Amino acid sequence: MLDLSFYKGKKVLVTGHTGFKGSWLCHLLLLAGADVTGYALNPPTTPSLFGLTGLEKRMDSIQGDIRDFEKLEMLFTAYEPEIVFHLAAQPIVRTSYWLPRMTFETNVMGTVNILECIRNSKSVRSFVNVTTDKVYLNQDDDKAFTEDMPLDGYDPYSNSKSCSELVTHSYVKSYFLSPDTPAVSTARAGNVIGGGDFARDRLIPDCVRAAEEGKAVVLRNPNSTRPFQHVLEPLTIYMEIAEKQYSDKEKYADSYNVGPDLEDVKSAGELAEMFCQAYGNGLSWRVEGKGGPHEAAFLRLDCSRLKQRFGWKSVWRIDKAVEKTAEWTRVYLSGGDVAKEVEDEIADYLKDAGI
Ligand SMILES: NC(=O)c1ccc[n+]([C@@H]2O[C@H](COP(=O)([O-])OP(=O)(O)OC[C@H]3O[C@@H](n4cnc5c(N)ncnc54)[C@H](O)[C@@H]3O)[C@@H](O)[C@H]2O)c1
Repeated sequence: MLDLSFYKGKKVLVTGHTGFKGSWLCHLLLLAGADVTGYALNPPTTPSLFGLTGLEKRMDSIQGDIRDFEKLEMLFTAYEPEIVFHLAAQPIVRTSYWLPRMTFETNVMGTVNILECIRNSKSVRSFVNVTTDKVYLNQDDDKAFTEDMPLDGYDPYSNSKSCSELVTHSYVKSYFLSPDTPAVSTARAGNVIGGGDFARDRLIPDCVRAAEEGKAVVLRNPNSTRPFQHVLEPLTIYMEIAEKQYSDKEKYADSYNVGPDLEDVKSAGELAEMFCQAYGNGLSWRVEGKGGPHEAAFLRLDCSRLKQRFGWKSVWRIDKAVEKTAEWTRVYLSGGDVAKEVEDEIADYLKDAGI
């Protein structure tokens, strides 16, 4: 189980802290008493969870490009982080079809840059690279992926994250095998949902925009299945991986799938229906368009390694995850205190997890 007290006073660097997952992660780390610094471009959306919850005033927020190696290296020298979570990325599949070069530069060279800084650093002891469940060679045959299956994502986003995994493995084998070097893990999480995601081309943000405009939610691929889970599920396990490998690298540093139980893997249509029911106000959904560029139809993860090594189990099943997301959305759309809602949800989650 995650030991929040481990983070008290620890110097933690989060790349991509202005994004959806990064903002939730910073809230968790601040609650745990960590000394948090973030490195990222400006928030990728307006509004953003980062802006709405006033994170800028609560942590050291450095604006910078992950492709700017010199600036990143200066930050490592000045801040001397002990733990690093790497989330900065171009994370949208459809954007990656329009901007493949930028996607590969950000997601692959960004990983090289961060690993190079870690290689040159004397302070870092624990590093978690956040990739995705889309890193695998997906033949749409409904098999659940295990960590040893071939990595070869289809579209530029997925493939850039497969490359990010391979870059990480090369650094581990070339530089980080001896006991006095940093512990390094990669985490391959499924699609996350939760309050404060405003990205384009994602299901829950599309639902929130539809609710705001009083329109029906429009789906492209209602039958695609994804391992959806609440954002706090992967974030708490990223924190636990970083914590445990900090003192026992041999046992815990590895690559991990992070996803819900197989019965919680839902189709986009089922998830939209659940959100509409949970949100209320007559929100509905319909199908439109030809589906756009290729996106995997089936995606399921086998998370046995995570369960065996960490005794991990999902805390909020999909219905609770949707209910909490709808709750956050109601607070946001009624002009309520979304920062307090984030804190309350974190407190509820930690209580339910027994942390
Ligand atoms: N959201 C999901 O469902 C999901 C699922 C699996 C994995 N992931 C991974 O989690 C991470 C965070 O995803 P998110 O949903 O919070 O995305 P997001 O778009 O909300 O945030 C991305 C973050 O990266 C930063 N960034 C982008 N390009 C950058 C650059 N060139 N230099 C520095 N910073 C840059 C942005 O400023 C932002 O802080 C990503 O690595 C993503 O691939 C997300």
